[in-house]
Amino acid sequence: MTTAATPSPSADGRWLNLRLAPALFAADAPLAEGEVACIVVQQGHIAWVGPQQQVPAAYAALPAHDGGGQLATPGLIDCHTHLVYGGQRANEFAMRLAGASYEEIARAGGGIVSSVKATRQASEDELYALALPRLQSLLREGVCAIEIKSGYGLALEHERKQLRVARRLGEDLGVTVRTTFLGAHALPPEYAGRSQDYIDLVCNEMLPALAQEGLVDAVDAFCERIGFSLAETEQVFRTAQALGLPVKLHAEQLSNMGGSALAARYGALSCDHIEHLDAAGIAAMQAAGTVAVLLPGAYYCLRDTHMPPIAALRAAGVPMAISTDHNPGTSPALSLLLMVNQACTLFGLTVPEALAGVTRHAAQALGLQDTHGTLAAGRPANFVLWPLAEAAELAYWLGQRPACTVVRQGRIHAP
Ligand code: NIG
Ligand code: FE
Repeated sequence: MTTAATPSPSADGRWLNLRLAPALFAADAPLAEGEVACIVVQQGHIAWVGPQQQVPAAYAALPAHDGGGQLATPGLIDCHTHLVYGGQRANEFAMRLAGASYEEIARAGGGIVSSVKATRQASEDELYALALPRLQSLLREGVCAIEIKSGYGLALEHERKQLRVARRLGEDLGVTVRTTFLGAHALPPEYAGRSQDYIDLVCNEMLPALAQEGLVDAVDAFCERIGFSLAETEQVFRTAQALGLPVKLHAEQLSNMGGSALAARYGALSCDHIEHLDAAGIAAMQAAGTVAVLLPGAYYCLRDTHMPPIAALRAAGVPMAISTDHNPGTSPALSLLLMVNQACTLFGLTVPEALAGVTRHAAQALGLQDTHGTLAAGRPANFVLWPLAEAAELAYWLGQRPACTVVRQGRIHAP
């Protein structure tokens, strides 16, 4: 994988002989279904997208890149990950197969807290080395922007370590990284029985310090019986609001706590998981413009049977995004396209819905809708060329990794 030390080639020029699926991904000039398309890149940004026949003369002298008739899509976006952590939890996978529930394992001192122990023991460089191949795996499959949460440190220095690694990964690999502070992910063992004291620490010390250091783009919490209460979550949201940071929430995953309606009141970018979301939560999200982030990998790994209310979300017009939720406990997934497949097969999304879920709706879940998630002039050049006959193949193959060419931040990453 190329790093900042050995820059990949510039993507500037005319990308010719592309197919664009105009019904899915708009172009600057109208494009008929099946018409040959061109993307013009200048200084790392998209200058023009449209029918190849109509490329403005001003770009005629730019170098040509032959797209070879491949399908072009916007760069994919993985809008919910816990990519930076120590250790792994295959033992809990085996325990769940033997009948233990995720909640039982957490209450017995495993779960998130077990990853906290391993993460605290790891140095920043060790965490970087562990996260690097995970990120590379996602990038090879066309991911051009990713959210990375903290939440396995649960103490200032260890949360800082995670967020610093996230920032370094973004800089070194030339990928948009949005960091999310998830200090309210679980109660660390040293605060057992003192939940309020821990939330005070999160709000009065951890979050202000990390925000001041420029390490926090958004704030999240785990509002759940084994996480934090509505009141505790609201305290975190109030702190985020005072610091001018957007919020999002792990909401209604195992039970209906009403977290989504609370998050919507704070203008949340997204509510994520939402298997137990009710009608009031959907209405609140719709009114607030909050994105529903579906995490089929966690649903699948936990062998959950309580589906998110897809039909009601669709009827309400709530935008649906899809993400890996990569984490060592509930979703050790490193393929966003596998999640696209699962969103279709397990949750019943249509292919266009699923593709919007990893492009423009995922961008919206990160507040990146003005720069990412669609192909349009003025945006950083993030797009993918797929050797596939039709867009539905992005959802269809199971575990196949197409040999795609990725243009990320204006640089070419060949297969
Ligand atoms: O998104 N549900 C809470 N957080 C993670 C799981 C974290 C863990 O088990 O380590 C999730 O599924
Ligand atoms: Fe998560």
